[in-house]
Formats: sequence, C-alpha cells, structure tokens
Amino acid sequence: MIIEDQKDVTTAVLSELQRAGDARFKEIMSALVRHLHDFVREVKLTEEEFHAAAAHIIALGKHSNETHNEAVLMAGSLGLSALVCLLNNGGRGATETDQNMLGPFWRMHSPVTPNGGSIVRSPTPGPALFVDASFRDADGKPIAGAEVDVWHSSPEGFYENQDPVQADMNLRGKFFTDADGHISFRSVKPAGYPIPIDGPTGDLIRAQGRHNMRPAHLHFLASKDGFKTLISQVYVQDDKFLDTDVQFGVTRHLIGNYVRHDNEAAPAPGVEGPWYSLAHDFVMERGSTKLPRPPITGKARGERPKIPHLA
Ligand SMILES: [Fe+2]
Repeated sequence: MIIEDQKDVTTAVLSELQRAGDARFKEIMSALVRHLHDFVREVKLTEEEFHAAAAHIIALGKHSNETHNEAVLMAGSLGLSALVCLLNNGGRGATETDQNMLGPFWRMHSPVTPNGGSIVRSPTPGPALFVDASFRDADGKPIAGAEVDVWHSSPEGFYENQDPVQADMNLRGKFFTDADGHISFRSVKPAGYPIPIDGPTGDLIRAQGRHNMRPAHLHFLASKDGFKTLISQVYVQDDKFLDTDVQFGVTRHLIGNYVRHDNEAAPAPGVEGPWYSLAHDFVMERGSTKLPRPPITGKARGERPKIPHLA
C-alpha cells in the first residue's frame, strides 16, 4: 500500500504478515510489530536513537563468539530470560518451579563422572564442597538413570571456558542418577562473579548505575526420557548479591542451604579447614526431553580475562 501517514506503516506491515504460512510465526511477528511500532510512538524515538539501537544490535553479534554469548547475557540483564523461564514452567508461572535460566556458560559433552567423584580437574583453590542432589517426579518417585550436567564458576569467579588457567571442563561434570534418584559429587564452593561488561550489556548496566555481579550458584541440567529437561541453578543463601542479581535469576524456591562445617570430618580425605555441604531435591515435570542449544562451544585461550566489578 502507499503510505499516507505514520499509522499506515503499521497497517502495511501487519497486512503483509497475513501472507505468512506458519500460524505461530504470524502470531509472534504481528505482536512484535505492533509492540515495536507502539514503543517507537510512545518514546518518540529520534533518528539518532534509532541508529544507536541498530549499533547496539550489531555489537551483540560482534561481541559473541564460541566462548562468549553476548545475546544471552543481554537477555538476562533485561530480565527476559527469567521471564521466559517463569512463564513456561510451574503451571505457567502459577506455582513454584525448580526451573531457572540456562545462562551463557553451559557446554555440551561434560566429562562423565561417577557419583561421589570430583569435578575439580585442575588446581582450584577454595573450600571443598560436597553435593548430594535428588531428582523426583511430581509424585515424589525417584527418577533413576537421569543424565545430569553440573557446572559452576571457580571461587575466583570464572567459568573454565573464560579462564585459560583452568583445565578444559574444570568444574563441569556429567552424572547419572542412581536407583534412588541421587547424584553426588565433590567440588569447591562457587563464588559470585562479575558478568563481562566490555560489550553492549556493559553499556546498559553502566547507564543504569547497576553492579554487574551474579550471586554464587551451581548450575544443573537434568534430562530423562518422558520428562521436561530440567534447567536449574541453586543459589548460595548468604551471598550479598542475592537480591540484586544482575541477571534477575534468584527465585526464593532456588535459594539453597550450603552448610558450613568447621569441626567435622569431611566425607573424603585431603580436606583441610572448613568445608561445605549442599543437599538439594529437584522435581522434574512430565514432558518432552529436549536439550537446549549450547550458548557456547569452546574455551578461551591466552591470558585470564580481567573483568571489572562495578560498584
Ligand atoms: Fe552461572
């Protein structure tokens, strides 16, 4: 159609979308166009601001590579990842859920590790942590034979893929639940960490006057035929960034109980000083098993990065 005024642009784009053969595509794109056009009208977006927005989108791509996913980082910092997670789980946001964001650091092919084994694969200073996690269905029945990926940051605040100092796949492991639905492993207590701020996500956070820290957590990804893949994080209860997570990921249901032990014998030899334990129970919902697309595929080389902490 010939555009007579600004309102006609929206009408024209929406009418072209009627050609789309895929109903879901048509629904999503029509809503996107309506909201996007209304957003431009509401804020009276200037031409300079429009060009700046395009540059930010280009920067998302330019700052992404096999070891870093800026798009996922940005989605988290806008609360989009948390919103999508909570809207799609726990009765579509009605009840508590063990589901949480995948985040940008999951890698496929973590080393298969026997229950009770360690995921510390290169010298990693920090207090020992012993984890026992159970996986059950909604009726409380143990889920045996589920495949569970675990990954977390080092006590220095780096995932191994970011940090050439750590061995490949350090602090990552793949476990299988036993007949009682449990996995167990040894690691080191994770620390909170700063998200990278050298890209457009950093620009956003600085402009908002926020800090760039995530509270300490462990990541879990559990899959078993007949169940919806469980993607979860269990947060450390006394982390000072618990209620200001830069990625808006902390739900009350997923605050763990990391217990400090000062004077008790550890469950494995070679532990000096205080150590920690975490026991956590997960519920998996019935559904179709599908692994997410891995946000990264490789490991950084060269120097350990210096990621500033914003106050
Ligand atoms: Fe994380």
